[in-house]
Amino acid sequence: MVTPFVDGWDFVQTLGEGAYGEVKLAISRSTHEAVAVKVLQLNKQTTDAVRKEVCINRMLTDQNIIRFYGQRKEENTQYLFLEYASGGELFDRIEPDVGMPTCDAHRFFSQLIEGVEYLHKMGVTHRDLKPENLLLDDNDNLKISDFGLATVFRHQGKERKLGKCCGTPPYVAPEILQKEEYRAQPADVWSCGIILVAMLAGELPWDEPTPECKEYKDWLNKKIQVSPWKKVDMVALALLRNILQHEPRRRYSISQIKKDRWFRTKGQSSRVPSCSPSGQVPLKRLCSNHDLSPASPLHSYENVSASQPAPHLPNSPMVPKNVSESLVQELLNPFSFSQPVHMENLLLSTQTDCTQGSSQTPYQKLVKRMTRFFSSLDTEMTKEKLTLILDKLRYTWKNHHSNQVTVTLNDKRKHNLTFKVNLLEMDGNVLVDFRLSKGDGIEFKRHFMKIKKALASIIVKGPNLFPSILPSGVGSKDPETYSTNP
Ligand code: ADE
Repeated sequence: MVTPFVDGWDFVQTLGEGAYGEVKLAISRSTHEAVAVKVLQLNKQTTDAVRKEVCINRMLTDQNIIRFYGQRKEENTQYLFLEYASGGELFDRIEPDVGMPTCDAHRFFSQLIEGVEYLHKMGVTHRDLKPENLLLDDNDNLKISDFGLATVFRHQGKERKLGKCCGTPPYVAPEILQKEEYRAQPADVWSCGIILVAMLAGELPWDEPTPECKEYKDWLNKKIQVSPWKKVDMVALALLRNILQHEPRRRYSISQIKKDRWFRTKGQSSRVPSCSPSGQVPLKRLCSNHDLSPASPLHSYENVSASQPAPHLPNSPMVPKNVSESLVQELLNPFSFSQPVHMENLLLSTQTDCTQGSSQTPYQKLVKRMTRFFSSLDTEMTKEKLTLILDKLRYTWKNHHSNQVTVTLNDKRKHNLTFKVNLLEMDGNVLVDFRLSKGDGIEFKRHFMKIKKALASIIVKGPNLFPSILPSGVGSKDPETYSTNP
């Protein structure tokens, strides 16, 4: 049952969780409008940072930035109302050790650069760009999200250098780790370069860009016959060489990137990404009957911003063979889904009950994710088989909640990785849904694929039929982000 939020808004599921708090999906019962609500706890340590995050969000309105609708504070909780991105996180489109089709990488990279250019024009730096913070909307348009570490580097035309060491080690620029003052824009550009490597090769080039790191030293010594560089074509590699330039002064600026040959190559960008991770039939979205028409002007609540992107046409969904007719009907049931028009109910809420729902409503089929499959066994047997395989593969796991298995491990960088496997019964089928709680997204995907391979005998064959189904009450990410200078 979903729990009512206020005046027809339901908090139907958790989209993400982390050190900061949680992001929940809220749906209007009457209009089916969807918003993401970031829930932040306020205390002595967090209040200033949360205020800053609100303030920065409020400055931004761009098609490649998650839209900020407004905020509410209730006692010690701050709610940020944000555009809901139904396409999931970019890392979910990256196949470990492979990446994604070049045309998709090119398209996502172009949108990332557009978004970052806009941020910099506004004098804002993100400081934690990585695939986990890049979300995709219903049309697979990239949206930069999570401004929890962002700051203003230029005010009234005057740029300031930054000193705070923050970000995620494999994505941070070398000058940040040198603990000296650094310029904001080249540092964000560096992270974009690492994201491009991840998209083109399915792996990160180094743990951190320090002289102690062999992979980084090899890069500085132009050793490009090794992975990931050997998987990248020469034209893209030439761009990467200029972006992943140790010296920030010599690093490409955004305007130089936009003039680069690979970046400008026509026909490279697919208008619609193929989104076809290996082993899966290209997905046609079941969550496509959504009305994303521009929202009408919003009411006069604080911080409520402009309208949504242009409408899109739904794709025709694929009809699964081995799932009951009723479920198919439910999935195909047209219902309008749009970004919010009437924010007043949400913003004037006095109720804060955001208990998770557990039933599968059509709303819960709104998230497109790849890290899941259907089992041919019932829930108990699936859990038995899963835990058996986890033991065999030497994973450490716990089963605190009846249909949830939490797996923890140290990844190959010796960093903690935690993910949850939720078993959800649906019309005689059991959905096995993997969700990252903490750690690196690509590593998580690597482990998902390993476990999926070991469970091949119980997986219902065929395309990923339900890319948009998600169990409620589970979190998605708590990436290893550090900040040494609060
Ligand atoms: N996870 C975190 N923020 C999100 C958002 N705005 N939309 C969808 N999923 C999210």
